[in-house]
Amino acid sequence: MITRKTHQEIEAMHKAGKLLAACHNEINKRIRPGVTTKDIDHFVESYLKMHDALPEQKGYQGYQFATCASVNDVVCHGFPSSTPLSEGDIVTIDFVVNLDGWLADSAWSYAVGDVSAKGQRLMKTTKEALYRGIEQAKVGNRIGHIANAIETFAVAKGYSVVRDFIGHGIGDMIHEPPHVPHFGPIEQGPVLEEGMVLTIEPMLNCGTYHTFVEEDGWTARTIDGELSAQYEHTVAIANQGPIILTDQDI
Ligand code: MF3
Ligand code: CO
Repeated sequence: MITRKTHQEIEAMHKAGKLLAACHNEINKRIRPGVTTKDIDHFVESYLKMHDALPEQKGYQGYQFATCASVNDVVCHGFPSSTPLSEGDIVTIDFVVNLDGWLADSAWSYAVGDVSAKGQRLMKTTKEALYRGIEQAKVGNRIGHIANAIETFAVAKGYSVVRDFIGHGIGDMIHEPPHVPHFGPIEQGPVLEEGMVLTIEPMLNCGTYHTFVEEDGWTARTIDGELSAQYEHTVAIANQGPIILTDQDI
């Protein structure tokens, strides 16, 4: 069953989302060559603590960290590591904030120093694909409108869209129905109704969309070793149009 959140519940999730966005702003200031994703993970954990919030991913299905940190060909769910980031890396930081029991989820890809033109174009296109999807997140549309808008845009730009990981409903749990794929026909999935809250989180690859998961059980990489980027927002469906609960200005 897809739950529809009340105005108060969406307001509570928006508070979590604003805190998450503010934290991404701080991460943006800290990402540079030489910094480790463990440093970023610790920063996020202490930032959330300072603001009376919890890193919901820590302990989720055995996941050990506050954040996922996915570098270059890592598609998602990379472990924060003590290897310093290098000039030219692309790193996606993904985390879920729990504030007073309500959640928000957002991932952002960051350039580490000067990134190649190829990497910059991938990042820009992935971010734009996210916003193409969000535009379709309106009452009366189907999940398929979101999925199809993202895939059509990405493919036209020469990228593939990851199929093994998708968006989801979210509320007081990280993963709720419905599934939110970022590919496929318009006709798929349920019709969107006021009060539904979804994550939209496309991962775009320079090569094929195929991924594999490392022996650690989490780290997902492109099978061809090509670059991958991801941007994710938590979005509420409202009569006046989509409300981005994790909106930010970076
Ligand atoms: N934030 C992730 C998402 O976008 C969820 C990661 S689950 C974890 O769906 F266990 F890896 F943290
Ligand atoms: Co996420």
